[in-house]
Amino acid sequence: METWARWRWWAVAAAGVLCALLPPAAATLSPTGINYEVVALMAIKTELQDHYNVLDNWDINSVDPCSWRMVTCSSDGYVSALGLPSQRLSGKLSPGIGNLTRLQSVLLQNNAISGTIPSTIGRLGMLQTLDMSDNHLTGSIPTSLGDLKNLNYLKLNNNSLSGVLPESLATINGLALVDLSFNNLSGPVPKISARTFSIAGNSMICGVKSGDNCSSVSLDPLSYPPDDLKTTTSHVKKSPHCYHLWSNCGFCSVCRYRGRYASLVEA
Ligand SMILES: *[C@@H]1O[C@H](CO)[C@@H](O)[C@H](O)[C@H]1NC(C)=O
Ligand SMILES: *[C@@H]1O[C@H](CO)[C@@H](O)[C@H](O)[C@H]1NC(C)=O
Ligand SMILES: *[C@@H]1O[C@H](CO)[C@@H](O)[C@H](O)[C@H]1NC(C)=O
Ligand SMILES: *[C@@H]1O[C@H](CO)[C@@H](O)[C@H](O)[C@H]1NC(C)=O
Repeated sequence: METWARWRWWAVAAAGVLCALLPPAAATLSPTGINYEVVALMAIKTELQDHYNVLDNWDINSVDPCSWRMVTCSSDGYVSALGLPSQRLSGKLSPGIGNLTRLQSVLLQNNAISGTIPSTIGRLGMLQTLDMSDNHLTGSIPTSLGDLKNLNYLKLNNNSLSGVLPESLATINGLALVDLSFNNLSGPVPKISARTFSIAGNSMICGVKSGDNCSSVSLDPLSYPPDDLKTTTSHVKKSPHCYHLWSNCGFCSVCRYRGRYASLVEA
């Protein structure tokens, strides 16, 4: 009896040492063997309506989400990009996205996603690109987006977002492009430091009565790298209601931006 107990103690101790020495099978496995990134991705799949089965190979029993369609992982095995533009997805975006904490890029533009932008997105501290333009999003822009200190590109244009623009957006440095055009947002407009910023097509900010309908300001075609913009800012028209506006360049920048992130965009 006593030998048995002693043997068991050694076995447990040896296993403990082995576990400590061996690298974990996957960076994202919890101590109980659950890949929490798989759980979060499945929550996203569940809340989206995927009429064209583009998410078919997102499978709860699959150990490695890095092989899933439109999921990109970093070299250390964390989900770093979700590229689902133009996939005719509807439904809602799950707050579970906030658990994919290593995400750098989220491309969900040109779908039919409704509901609100989950405030948990503010937990994605490494996020550089958030494009949810051209969907059916409602509600306000979460204040938590101001926590995304690495954000470069924010495109929420062509939705039905309403409410006051969060002041927190002014605290993000290093924004290259913020496009909030064609929503139902209201002012005051925070001093967003993006090199390129559009708020056109928000009737309460740029209404007919504001003296500037925000759709007539034009810049020379945008050229990237964004530093080139510095040479064109003198053409930017300023008015009390609208800061730095451009209206005819959305297409150009999207193209460039897509080209830049082409590897993340799976058609
Ligand atoms: C996200 O993580 C929290 C705790 O870290 C957990 O309670 C929750 O169930 C997770 N949600 C999803 C959808 O993964
Ligand atoms: C956004 O809406 C405007 C006005 O309806 C339209 O001209 C523009 O093409 C739309 N942009 C996108 C990317 O859908
Ligand atoms: C915009 O918001 C105002 C006030 O919140 C509301 O009355 C109006 O119906 C909204 N317009 C659209 C097109 O959603
Ligand atoms: C407002 O937009 C119209 C076109 O819809 C344009 O003709 C007009 O010049 C613009 N007004 C101002 C003040 O920019």
